[in-house]
Amino acid sequence: MSRIEELEGAYGAPAFKKFPIAIVRGKGSVVWDSTGKEYIDFMSGIGVAIIGHCNDAVIEAVRAQSEKLITCHGSFYNDARAEFMERLVKAAPKGLGRALLTNTGTESVEAAIKLARRHTSRKKIVSMKGGFHGKTYGSLSATWNKKYRDPFGPLLDGFDFAEYGDPMSLSQLVDSDTAAVIAEPIQGETGIIVPPPDYFREVREICDKNGTLLILDEIQSGLGRTGKMWASEHFGVVPDIMTVSKGLGGGLPIGAAVAKDEVAGSLKGGEHTSTFAGNPLSCAAGSATLDFIARNDLPSKAKEKGEAMKAGLAKIASSHKLVKEVRGLGMMLAMQTRVDILSQLQSAQANGVIFAYSGRDTFRFLPALVMQEAQMSKGLEVLEKAVGEAEAGRL
Ligand SMILES: Cc1ncc(COP(=O)(O)O)c(C=O)c1O
Repeated sequence: MSRIEELEGAYGAPAFKKFPIAIVRGKGSVVWDSTGKEYIDFMSGIGVAIIGHCNDAVIEAVRAQSEKLITCHGSFYNDARAEFMERLVKAAPKGLGRALLTNTGTESVEAAIKLARRHTSRKKIVSMKGGFHGKTYGSLSATWNKKYRDPFGPLLDGFDFAEYGDPMSLSQLVDSDTAAVIAEPIQGETGIIVPPPDYFREVREICDKNGTLLILDEIQSGLGRTGKMWASEHFGVVPDIMTVSKGLGGGLPIGAAVAKDEVAGSLKGGEHTSTFAGNPLSCAAGSATLDFIARNDLPSKAKEKGEAMKAGLAKIASSHKLVKEVRGLGMMLAMQTRVDILSQLQSAQANGVIFAYSGRDTFRFLPALVMQEAQMSKGLEVLEKAVGEAEAGRL
């Protein structure tokens, strides 16, 4: 065991299940461990390194901003924050005119829930079976998996769960007391579940009929990952509130709830603030990230590369019975198998490739949108080898 593992093991609360690898460096789609071993990274910190690890534009923005001002409380105006908010709102779906900045995904969901309750003066929130929105109390109350919820009750009152992809189930739960419906446009944590094409248009109608707000959680699916800037664009809907985080700061912690003017405007000064929200360093990184995505048209690249990768996965599926299904959009992909994939993940790591998983049986692929073709081919080769070994009973 390395010194790094020893120290984290000795002094850290055991909050994460860990692989015995200490990652100490990264560039683009490659990371290196403490022994100098190189890995192609299809996990990207669960989608965070969307423009690649240590992107040059982010490095330069952070360097310049860190020499100028690192912290600035939200009770004062700040240039880096102002410029970032303008970029974020301009990149958001039309009609979402104001950003409430946060530091993480879960905080963005907390902000969205509070905005919805504040704006509507209603309490009920309807979330989705299989949905994942984070692990603090508000977002956990909207998260479906019992494994995350049960040890920590009581959670917040007023949360119901509809069948994802089934508008009938939603319409039975939403009424004139419902503040908001919250959903991922594509469910990430649960295994990259893409809903039927018309589903969200019907969700929008149910919300509108009841005066209920629609919150779309784009924390995993946003920023070009699915082949469009926002996954909601695939379904032709605009939410009232959109949450975004993960890749937004090019690796630095930042998030936002971006809302319609009238929804954001229902907050009074001081009602929902946080010390680090909108800190200049993360904002400068956020501006560099949004500029990089636009300048390089990463949504189109994600579409193209995602199609190539999905075809590669389909080819593996066609020659291995162990594989049950390949699904997803753009560079948000999954391959479900018929077995626990832990040993396959470890085999891939031994062969220099890191994959994420969703549940026990599903590979989840959230590579940087800048991943090179050769890196993708190597990843697919290593994946097929791991699947083949598992199928032959050697793993
Ligand atoms: C859709 C979605 N919402 C919320 C979150 C929570 O984000 P964080 O881990 O930054 O709190 C995640 C994290 O995986 C997510 O995928």
